[in-house]
Amino acid sequence: MTDNQETVEAEDVTPSGRSSTLPLRPPCERLPGPKTSVCSRSYFVVVMVFFHVYIVNVIALLFYVHYSSSSGQEDASRSLDAPSGVHHQQRPESRRTPPSKPEFMRDVSLTRMEGVRVGHVQKVSLVPGKVHEMRTLSLKPLLFEIPGFLSDDECRVVMQLAQLKGLMESQLMVQEGQEELAKELNLRPEEIFNLLDINQDGQLQLQEILTHSRVRDGIWLTPENLREIYAGLKADKDDNGLLSLEEFRLLSNDAFQRFLLQRGVKRSQLVRNSRHTWLYQGKGAHRVLQEIKERVTRLTRVPHTLVDLSEPLQVVRYEEGGHYHAHHDSGPVYPETACSHTRLAANTSTPFETSCRYITVLFYLNSVDGGGETAFPVADNRTYDEVCLIQNDVDLMDTRRNCDKSNLRVRPTKGTAVFWYNYLSDGRGWVGVQDEYALHGGCVVTRGTKWIANKWINVDPDYQRQARYQQLVSQPPEEENDEDLTMNTHIQKPSIHQDL
Ligand code: OGA
Ligand code: CA
Ligand code: FE2
Repeated sequence: MTDNQETVEAEDVTPSGRSSTLPLRPPCERLPGPKTSVCSRSYFVVVMVFFHVYIVNVIALLFYVHYSSSSGQEDASRSLDAPSGVHHQQRPESRRTPPSKPEFMRDVSLTRMEGVRVGHVQKVSLVPGKVHEMRTLSLKPLLFEIPGFLSDDECRVVMQLAQLKGLMESQLMVQEGQEELAKELNLRPEEIFNLLDINQDGQLQLQEILTHSRVRDGIWLTPENLREIYAGLKADKDDNGLLSLEEFRLLSNDAFQRFLLQRGVKRSQLVRNSRHTWLYQGKGAHRVLQEIKERVTRLTRVPHTLVDLSEPLQVVRYEEGGHYHAHHDSGPVYPETACSHTRLAANTSTPFETSCRYITVLFYLNSVDGGGETAFPVADNRTYDEVCLIQNDVDLMDTRRNCDKSNLRVRPTKGTAVFWYNYLSDGRGWVGVQDEYALHGGCVVTRGTKWIANKWINVDPDYQRQARYQQLVSQPPEEENDEDLTMNTHIQKPSIHQDL
């Protein structure tokens, strides 16, 4: 795509190219002593055989890569946009057998940007007459930054439109609710204890409790909170900072909640302390909002229809002292989980519903006077371990206290966009499992206010459900049949977004 990229890639090739001669070296070095002519001849033969086998393997691998990627490209170019009824009619066999993923992959695949390496810059063309630079910030998650994505005027318009519409509290103070689920599941205290006891040592460490329930009814628990609760409820009888099964049994199910509620909750103790609103970006929306949507489509290179059918633009305002603790924008996906955006197409009602946001594009609408960075606590970490997020009372997910210990922080700069993938690829051109490294949050704003906007691109990891959903919402009005079957049409269904 860019000149830059080409030169950089050329550099990258050299070391791996050199390594192809390496397999020849070790046997020579491992053979000490005098060399007779027989020995060196037989050795030469062995080396040559080895060399040939190696070359044949490399060629076979190249063929494999070539054919698998070219068939992927064919798919993409045949119908880069969303699946349509036409495809399924052309291939009746896909109805007879339960359609498996590989079969569907022939219809559509999603483009995924190349990160190349941290710091790599690629030039992207998003608006006529202007070239933007897109810098790779991390590979895990795959995360990019594009300065000047929005002009100052565009930032102003988005903030004004949001104010005109009115922003609401992102999180209400406290809702009851988690108890219901526990009651429904009807778990015995021993069973709950067992679930919480990650290291199975028969004791509950603070870390284990926090890993499972940092959030109780929207309240963010810190290690100190938990100690206070233990003291207030006299839960930790032997005062060793651990809960035994006996101590745990004596606690009623809602003891923690009741304690917290009695004591009162401050906004700073919530998971999220901000206000937000949603701005519709379809036909008839303000020109700037429509243009931003087009630009996002060009930037991410996902099919138009997917962007059109995604959530509206979310505009968020943090006051001084505002924050958003680390979270995933998108939930993990299990077979029994349904995505909120495709629930229309889900066959059964499932108890678990989650947001399926393949990509997050986050825009900074102003430069913040102090704090307010977006933190990625485990970006490019060697490993991901949920339990290790709390070590020695340092909770890396706590963006009020520990943003400075995050692996990566992005300073809010007016007009800059960052975007990342919340899911890995499934290796066949579709959405795979959740990328745990995409954990992120908004650090506390220490001075001034902070305005951001989020554009989420919703894709169901279950290809069939996404396809069914798109067919459902794109049922064309009779007279416009042909047009609508090419998936570049601008289908707008604002009614699916409850928030509007
Ligand atoms: C979000 C979010 C980060 C930030 O709104 O989902 O993660 O920097 N925001 O405000
Ligand atoms: Ca334990
Ligand atoms: Fe987020």
